[in-house]
Amino acid sequence: MGADFIESELSRLTEAGLYRKLRRVEGDQGPTLVLDGREVINFSSNNYLGIANHPALGEAAKLAIDRYGSGTGASRLISGNMTLHEELERKIAEFKGTEAALVFNSGFQVNVGVISALVGEGDVVFSDLLNHASIIDGCRLSRARAAVYAHLDMNQLEHELKQSQVVRRRLIVTESLFSMDGDEAPLADIVGLAERYGAVVMVDEAHATGVYEPNGAGLVAKLGLGDRVLVQMGTLGKALGGFGAYVAGSKALRELLINRCRSFIFTTALPPAVMAMAIAAIDLVKNEPERRKVLTDNSERLRAGLRGLGYLLGDSGRQILPLMVGDANRCMELSQRLLERGVFAHGIRPPTVPPGTSRLRITLMATHTDEHINQALETYKAAKD
Ligand SMILES: Cc1ncc(COP(=O)(O)O)c(C=O)c1O
Repeated sequence: MGADFIESELSRLTEAGLYRKLRRVEGDQGPTLVLDGREVINFSSNNYLGIANHPALGEAAKLAIDRYGSGTGASRLISGNMTLHEELERKIAEFKGTEAALVFNSGFQVNVGVISALVGEGDVVFSDLLNHASIIDGCRLSRARAAVYAHLDMNQLEHELKQSQVVRRRLIVTESLFSMDGDEAPLADIVGLAERYGAVVMVDEAHATGVYEPNGAGLVAKLGLGDRVLVQMGTLGKALGGFGAYVAGSKALRELLINRCRSFIFTTALPPAVMAMAIAAIDLVKNEPERRKVLTDNSERLRAGLRGLGYLLGDSGRQILPLMVGDANRCMELSQRLLERGVFAHGIRPPTVPPGTSRLRITLMATHTDEHINQALETYKAAKD
C-alpha cells in the first residue's frame, strides 16, 4: 500500500469543511493573545481563572526544579514516585473532600485508563451521548458494552439500567459541566438511579474544577455528593492553569488504580515543576474566590449581550457559551470573520460535536475586563451575516 491515502484523506477533510490546522501563540496565555502575529481577545481558552501565567505558579515551578530537578526518570511504580506527588495528592484529596487522590499525566489518560480498570467484558458502561472523546475511547478500550443515553436523558438512562440488571458490574460515566455545551448533568438524579440499580458513578469535572462555589472543588462537592460518587476526575490543565490530572475518591480506589490502571502504570511520572504548580494553583483557587465571581459576571454579561444581538446560544449557565451555527463551513466562516476583527472564538465541528451542531465555543476568563467584553460585542455585531 502506498502513502497516497494520506493526501486523499486530507482532501476529503478539506471538502467536508473539517480540515484542522495549528495556530501559533506568541507570549503567554492571557485574556488577549498574540495569535499568528496579531493581538486578539481570547475567548478560546480553558484557563478560566486566568492563572496560567500567574507568578505564584512560575515561582513554585522554579523552586521545585532547583530542589528536585527537572524530570522523574521513571514511572511512579519504579523509581519516579517523589514526595511532591504524594504532597499534591494529599492536597487534592483535601480540596475535593475525599479520602485519597491519585495524579495522572493528563485527563485523557485518566478517562482512557480508569474506565478500563473498572469495567471489562461482561460489564456495561452507561455514557452520556455528549461525553468527551477520552470517555468514549475509555469505554471502547474497556470492552464493556457501552449503553449510550441521549444527552441528560434520565428516562433513557433508567431504561438502560433496567435492561441490564443481570450483568456483573455497571458504571455510569458523565461530565458534570459539559465541555462543548456548558450545561450541567443532573448529578443528584444520576446518583439516585445508580443507587437504585446497583451501579457506580464516575464524574468528569474537567471544566467544573476551579469554577464552582464554595471553594472551586467542582459540582460534585457543591452538591454534597462526594460520598455517593465512586470516581471524581478532573484536569490540572484548565482552570488550574498547569498540566496533568487527578482522580479523587476512596483509598481503595487509589490502590486499585495503582495496581490495575495501565495509563497510570506504564508512563513516566509527572515532573516536579508541574506538581509544584498544581499545589500553588489549588491555594490560589481556594484563597481567591473573587476570581470565580468575576468569571460568572463576565459570562453573564457576554451571554446577555450576544443574545441581545440575536445570536442563538445553547443552554449554558456557566463560563462556556456555545454560539450555535449548525453548518461546519458557516461556523468556520463566522469564526474567521471575528478573528479578522480581533476576536478569537474557536469554531467546533464534527467529530468533536455531532453533525449539524457546529458552534463557536466561547469561553470566558476571570481576567477579561469590561473593555474586552464591550469590544467583543461590537465585533460580534459587525461580524453578523
Ligand atoms: C471533559 C474533558 N475530559 C477530559 C479532558 C482531557 O483532559 P486533559 O486536557 O488533561 O488531557 C478534556 C479536555 O482536554 C475534557 O474536556
